[in-house]
Amino acid sequence: MIRRFTLGSPICTDAVVLEVPSEGIEGFPFSHRIGNGEFVFSFDMEKDEIVYGLGEAIRGINKRGWLYRSYCSDDPIHTESKHALYAAHNFLMHGKTGIFIDFPAEIRWDIGYSHANETVVTICGTDFDIYVITQDTPLAIVKEFRSLIGQSYVPPFWAFGFQQSRWSYHNAEAVQNVIRSYDEANIPLDCVYLDIDYMERYKNFTVDREAFPDFEGLVQEAKANNIHLIPIIDAGVRKEEGYSVYEEGRDRGYFCKLEDGSDFEGGVWPGIVGFPDFLRPEVRAWFGEKYRFLTDMGIDGFWNDMNEPAIFYSKKGLANALTEAQELQGVDLDLGKFFHLKDVFMGLANNPADYASMYHEIDGKKVNHQRVHNLYGASMTRAAGEFFEKEFGKRKILMFSRSSMIGAHRIGGIWFGDNHSWWAHILQCLKMLPSANMCGFLYCGADLGGFSGDSTPDLVLRFLALGVFTPLMRNHSALGTRDQECYRFDNTDDFRDVILVRYRLLPYLYSLFVRASEENDLLFRPLSFDYPDDPIARECETQLMLGDACMIAPVYEQNANGRTVYLPEDMTFVKLSGERVVKESLSKGLHYVEVALNEVPLFVKKGKSIPLCKPAMRTALLDLEAVEYLEG
Ligand code: GLC
Repeated sequence: MIRRFTLGSPICTDAVVLEVPSEGIEGFPFSHRIGNGEFVFSFDMEKDEIVYGLGEAIRGINKRGWLYRSYCSDDPIHTESKHALYAAHNFLMHGKTGIFIDFPAEIRWDIGYSHANETVVTICGTDFDIYVITQDTPLAIVKEFRSLIGQSYVPPFWAFGFQQSRWSYHNAEAVQNVIRSYDEANIPLDCVYLDIDYMERYKNFTVDREAFPDFEGLVQEAKANNIHLIPIIDAGVRKEEGYSVYEEGRDRGYFCKLEDGSDFEGGVWPGIVGFPDFLRPEVRAWFGEKYRFLTDMGIDGFWNDMNEPAIFYSKKGLANALTEAQELQGVDLDLGKFFHLKDVFMGLANNPADYASMYHEIDGKKVNHQRVHNLYGASMTRAAGEFFEKEFGKRKILMFSRSSMIGAHRIGGIWFGDNHSWWAHILQCLKMLPSANMCGFLYCGADLGGFSGDSTPDLVLRFLALGVFTPLMRNHSALGTRDQECYRFDNTDDFRDVILVRYRLLPYLYSLFVRASEENDLLFRPLSFDYPDDPIARECETQLMLGDACMIAPVYEQNANGRTVYLPEDMTFVKLSGERVVKESLSKGLHYVEVALNEVPLFVKKGKSIPLCKPAMRTALLDLEAVEYLEG
């Protein structure tokens, strides 16, 4: 059952697709109060009750014991001490109750942090809808919630192939070299990414013709080899006279404004940019149409970035900081003044005062950015997705975004942003998967091998062994870090063995995915969903159920030859490596299993079987008919 409670006049977020009559706020079933422009509600939790949800967020699958913040944030250091990442996924559930807050501004969640057995939710505004869902099981709650928000985005089949990215492949030769090196190493590949350097001075919808003189030719050459090139698009449009996208945006008044009606100007990769007001349908239509520049050249996949929006500095913020610094010229800096100055400069990025100075236009009315902050990235995705669907229909274009809000799950996927080459981030990715699925985001994954910092071959391999199962399987890393393409390391054979497994599983994974979208189901479930009465399964956050036949349990520690795994029932332990399959029956209980670096561990339930096809170097070359069955 779904009930809807409304306070004030909510801004339309387009998150839900079902009409649920509103009951006002009077009958809202949780203790609540309104004050200081905020709505606060709370509920008690049983001592051992699990709280699920919040999608892309740090920490565990069970959200208890921490403070979270729904406020899309460009934060490249994903440590446990943080509260917000790039997304705002306002869905939470405990017991037989699911709660979805349809609201585009900040929400704070204290889930057993201040008081162990109490959740307190603070909605920073008084215009919202809250949907309360009652069902008998967590899975039934999720399914009902997902029917409320509509079916998840399904990418093209090839988007399940292995993808290689780096910031950046600076020119056409670098791109060709990646493809050639993968081919020479006999490692399958379907996509190569173009990070910001393919553009001319980081201007969206341009190509740096010095670095990519025959971009069209490069795209076609790759396509003929069944490789898709995937360019990045950033939210901000570089301010530059003579650059038509900027001039059109400025002349038509399409950029976000300051209070006085002039354009808000912030600094991001391109330098000073205007931020398109994606919340306006005409701006979405305009920006969406710009993707044609690249689709006309044969591009059929994109990643949208920096759309929280990330702002390294605003013109005003930087000017103020420089003035403060000048005023301190010649002054004897004590520690207090020194740290203050440091904080002024460190605080320039993503500064709340800058967000508060930005304005959108909604239905002809000026609306402060802080009231709609979490809708910005989702609206950029919508701009692109609306164009793709109109122009190409469904399942044709790969589209995923860094920032997101529920609703955007119907239009594209997400990646989990700038993680690190840290072992802990294998598990962080694993924990995000079921939570993101609950919120409708099925096409997702982390930067495999880790984005920031130098990776090591064993870390990349263990990350990939989890990535074999994530819909988005992309190796990506940051500028200045050690090369981590699979062919860069001595033990290339190990990498081939792992990636071939993905191609063997690919038809199975894609069909599971499509079914999960059609049936509003999860691809990944916490073990506690399936074994609610098993105390070990309930607490397990290092393994996941996948579809109705499998369990996954990646190795996540350096120098480990395997791991301890808990089997909630008798299962067949399978090690997949290249075309080799090694099986062992294991009984319910705890086991230490050995897993070599070139092996992908998988656990298949007794009586279940999954199809494996012959691997191929591209998804397009897979023989989908010739399958053998892996029996559990
Ligand atoms: C952001 C993105 C990252 C990208 C970089 C340069 O940090 O999250 O994936 O490589 O910008 O475009």
